Amino acid sequence: MPSQGTVLVTGGAGFIGSHTCVALLDAGWAVVVLDNLSNSSAVAVERVEELSPGDLTFHRVDLRDRAAVGAVVDERPIDAVIHFAGLKAVGESVVDPLRYYSNNVVATVTLLEVLREREIRDVVFSSSCTVYGDPANVPVAESAPLSAASPYGRSKLFIEEIFRDLAAAEPGWRVLLLRYFNPVGAHQSGRIGEDPHDVPNNLMPFVMQVAVGRRDRLTVFGGDYPTPDGTCIRDYIHVEDVAAGHVAALDALDRIEGCQAVNLGTGTGSSVLEVVQAASKAVGADIPFVIGARRPGDVVATWADPSLAEELLGWKANRTLDDMCADHWRWQSTNPDGYR
Ligand code: NAD
Ligand code: UFG
Repeated sequence: MPSQGTVLVTGGAGFIGSHTCVALLDAGWAVVVLDNLSNSSAVAVERVEELSPGDLTFHRVDLRDRAAVGAVVDERPIDAVIHFAGLKAVGESVVDPLRYYSNNVVATVTLLEVLREREIRDVVFSSSCTVYGDPANVPVAESAPLSAASPYGRSKLFIEEIFRDLAAAEPGWRVLLLRYFNPVGAHQSGRIGEDPHDVPNNLMPFVMQVAVGRRDRLTVFGGDYPTPDGTCIRDYIHVEDVAAGHVAALDALDRIEGCQAVNLGTGTGSSVLEVVQAASKAVGADIPFVIGARRPGDVVATWADPSLAEELLGWKANRTLDDMCADHWRWQSTNPDGYR
């Protein structure tokens, strides 16, 4: 397939990054991965190459190392950048905010300075529905008020503001801020997936580690919320749909001007108990759980209005919660210890 161009993927060894690299290679892009492997494994990159042989190069580089980032960008002409690299553990960000501001915000400024020097101005950035804080209305549209409840969330909000300021100050930048809801699942092959290094903070990896016998049972954080079954509601989206959203976003950069935020969600909410039920079906066994205390800071219910993504990117999610659970389980059951 003829090359669409070359895309620099920061954080390309990570969960969403690795799936996106497969989708990009499948679509005919040449891919340059830049990752310091602080939360990922080089094996993920090897498996990306196995799933979609193509033009991929990998550089183990920290984004804050300006000279090293410049050297990567100077190695070959870069047409666009997808910027995934960052830390994402909400609790850790509360304990060590400077690490988050350095690794997420400072690193992004460094990247943008390197890009500006070389007149590379097409960027797709990994934002999050966390920038909506506790939304007053659902489904949440991009025009909803923005706020943040943790240093992690603020790092995303600051980076969004930096992009908005930059695009307003300098013509030529074309930036899509993709606000992901809750990416879960794994590549359908079961070869790549999410591999949390510590105890998972997120629901689906925890559920699947219970299913595979690495943990005894799930604690459901709160069963007395004002929702139909008393548990919180989220918009879970298959990581392969998220990956496809990035390919669509790159294609859409030609059609936008300045900086534009776009939700990546399905438009449907599922409760914690609905996820446990779907996971049990995929696994073929009950997932043991207990109802515990609420987790401080949890939003009660949020799901996306995904209509702008369809309008602007021509993209919509099409995989179901059952698909997410089946694919996540295929990955977890064939790689019980992740990439180790
Ligand atoms: P991940 O941790 O699997 O991937 C992030 C990657 O970035 C890792 O490979 C890590 O090694 C790399 N990295 C981190 N800091 C770096 C640095 N300074 N220099 C170079 N590489 C660095 O996480 P993910 O789930 O794939 O998330 C990707 C992006 O999407 C993150 O920015 C995250 O905040 C955002 N996001 C994720 C979710 C989610 O639920 N997974 C939701 C919303 C937004
Ligand atoms: N949950 C449990 N037990 C667990 C883990 C999670 O009951 O062991 C519940 C949570 O309380 C929540 C739901 O499952 O109701 C989903 O939790 P996740 O941690 O998977 O997802 P969140 O929506 O809470 O977190 C996401 C992103 C973060 C982001 C945050 C902002 O993962 O990056 O949204 O709200 F910051």
